[in-house]
Amino acid sequence: MAIRVIRNDTDELLRKKSRNVEEIDNKVRELVLDMLDTMYDKDGVGLAAPQVGILKRIVVYDIGEGPKVLINPIIEKATGKQCGEEGCLSSPNVFGEVDRPEKIVVKAYDIDGKEIKVKATELEAIVICHEIDHLNGVLFLDIARDIYTATNEEIEAAKEKTKNELEHKNGKKKKNNKKIYK
Ligand code: NI
Repeated sequence: MAIRVIRNDTDELLRKKSRNVEEIDNKVRELVLDMLDTMYDKDGVGLAAPQVGILKRIVVYDIGEGPKVLINPIIEKATGKQCGEEGCLSSPNVFGEVDRPEKIVVKAYDIDGKEIKVKATELEAIVICHEIDHLNGVLFLDIARDIYTATNEEIEAAKEKTKNELEHKNGKKKKNNKKIYK
C-alpha cells in the first residue's frame, strides 16, 4: 500500500474519459488500496482513479461508514435534487455549491468482481456523483456556483468544529463537516 500523488485540476489527464476495468486483478486491487490510503491521508471522503493518474473507472469513498469501492459504476436512477458545498482533493482549498440528485441507484462491481447495487442519498449520493464525474473528465468547478477559496485556518477551524460536534454525539467517527474534499 502506498500514498500516491494527487493530480491538480490544471492537469489535462483529469479532462480525459476513463475506461472500464476489464478484469479485477492484483494490479487493480493494489490500486484500490493505494487510492484508499491516499484518500485517508488527505482527509478526503472520496477519490477517483484519474486523480492519481490512472484512467480507469474506479471510485473509492468513505462517508464515515467504512471504505467503499465502486468499479465501473453506472447511475441507473437519479431522482430529486439537493444542493451542497463541495470541494475536491484536486482543487485544494476551493469550494462551491453544486446541484446533485437527492437519491441515486448505482450499479457497480466490488473488489471481488461481484455486481452490487448501491442506493445512496444525502452525502453518499453527492460523493458518488462527484467521483463519477471525474471518470468522465468533469470537475466540480465546471458546474459549481459561488466558488471561493478558503484559507488553511478556516479549513482547520471547520474540521475542529466538526470533530468536537462528533465527539459530543456518540463517539462514532462520522465525517459530515462542510469542508470535505472528494
Ligand atoms: Ni474531486
